[in-house]
Amino acid sequence: MTVAVIGAHGGIGRRLLPRLNEAGHDPIGVVRSEDQFAAIRDRGAEPRLGDLEGEVASALDGADAVVFTAGAGGSTGWDKTILVDLWGAERAVHACEEKEIDRFVMVSSRGAGDPESRQGPIKPYIVAKHVADRTLQRSSLDETILRPTRLTDAEGTGRVAAYVDTDPDAGDPIPRADVAQAVVQCLADDNTVGHAITLYGGDTPIGEALRPSG
Ligand SMILES: NC(=O)c1ccc[n+]([C@@H]2O[C@H](COP(=O)([O-])OP(=O)(O)OC[C@H]3O[C@@H](n4cnc5c(N)ncnc54)[C@H](OP(=O)(O)O)[C@@H]3O)[C@@H](O)[C@H]2O)c1
Repeated sequence: MTVAVIGAHGGIGRRLLPRLNEAGHDPIGVVRSEDQFAAIRDRGAEPRLGDLEGEVASALDGADAVVFTAGAGGSTGWDKTILVDLWGAERAVHACEEKEIDRFVMVSSRGAGDPESRQGPIKPYIVAKHVADRTLQRSSLDETILRPTRLTDAEGTGRVAAYVDTDPDAGDPIPRADVAQAVVQCLADDNTVGHAITLYGGDTPIGEALRPSG
């Protein structure tokens, strides 16, 4: 499949591109600066310009699937949380519907299933993720939502703890590399379509952990 990654130069995105290649996909790396094109090419992907606050839809042309792993990050303001994590994600979903790109994997966040379970400074971010997830779930797309807990730059283990359609609030941090591998697994397994999967660090091989039961 041709897979467009929005947030391709981010911590998860950078780790995802070579893994998509290894799995036999043709990745497109969507970034907002041409300065990042060489790094995207080095990871085996076709770079394209796309800005979630501006023009992003054209960067998705020709894709069979889209992965959203962009984010405004913790050092910007809530304005950027709304414009990127919420509105940008929703615009990406709508662009896929318009372009008939049927498959969408969203990197969301632990807690986004139930924002009322979160208090304090993180809550606006969790609400933004919740609303974007809900828009995706109500769309016509074949969607999977991954909700990782706190991310680390540790080496990937190939193992996670996954909770399909439940969002428990305790567990170990997870390496970005393992979230990237979980994205690849979702694209390989249509049984993950229609599910929201909370991810922690854990001991179960990713392919097994992401398999919905029943
Ligand atoms: N940090 C955590 O512990 C945690 C926990 C759960 C979920 N998450 C979620 O996991 C996802 C990926 O995390 P990460 O650590 O890989 O993030 P990251 O390293 O901060 O990367 C985010 C990427 O999004 C891009 N981006 C920001 N604004 C954009 C815009 N307007 N248009 C296009 N791209 C834009 C950034 O581009 P530039 O390179 O140009 O800045 C960056 O490459 C995010 O959705 C995040 O909310 C994070």
